Amino acid sequence: MFLKKIPILSDNYVWILYNIQSFCIIIDPGVSEPIIKELEKKKWEPIAILLTHDHIDHTGGVKKIVENFPKITVFGPNETKRHGVNKIISEGDKIFILNKIFYVFFTPGHTPGHVSYYSHPYIFSGDSLFSGGCGRVFKNKHLEMYNSIKMIASLPNNTMLCCSHEYTLSNLKFSMFFLPDDKFIKVYFKKIKERLNLGKSSLPSFIIFEKKINLFLRTDERCVKRSLGLKNNSTSFEVFVKLRLKKDFWS
Ligand SMILES: [Fe+2]
Ligand SMILES: [Fe+2]
Repeated sequence: MFLKKIPILSDNYVWILYNIQSFCIIIDPGVSEPIIKELEKKKWEPIAILLTHDHIDHTGGVKKIVENFPKITVFGPNETKRHGVNKIISEGDKIFILNKIFYVFFTPGHTPGHVSYYSHPYIFSGDSLFSGGCGRVFKNKHLEMYNSIKMIASLPNNTMLCCSHEYTLSNLKFSMFFLPDDKFIKVYFKKIKERLNLGKSSLPSFIIFEKKINLFLRTDERCVKRSLGLKNNSTSFEVFVKLRLKKDFWS
């Protein structure tokens, strides 16, 4: 399977997995037009749509894509069912498509029913774990988000993080504000800035990098606690909550 991403709206990506037989799977089509154009251009036949959660920038294109390709199967959590989902999935489900297994992980916190799809080497994390950060937490479900991103970070180091937004640079600026002397973050920031200046993307990232650049995954480290004005005996979860609240007012 090969991976392609299509930038849509202001900072979303729609991910497409395709094989040499020209069949493909679309993840979170927030709009339809550029996706249908790409499918027609490449002569790809979409077999399935996978939805992570019920936000319009992830689901807005489903209806039109299904109208154009009526044989397609739409998978999604219960919260997305009004978007034409014909296979409701939940935690622990395994989806078999195009000779690949997609494991469904329940990753709530951003929305109550948010899921991520894992098919090695790819994790499609929607708006849960971002490169350098994590999604906004709605309805105060911080513990859910904390557990969700820790679970994603426990995947093998060579897993490719395919999240849904290009927020990496802004997330790294946030990280550098709190850890201005962190050499790895500084180097990574420079690399990503160069990539974006060339019109490229920061994604996919790798889990091994996220463990180093993503402060939300480093909440047990003393330097992070100190930079937030927290005591050494603060719990990792307390650090996460303070960090998330700081980020809420950051941008
Ligand atoms: Fe969202
Ligand atoms: Fe989103």
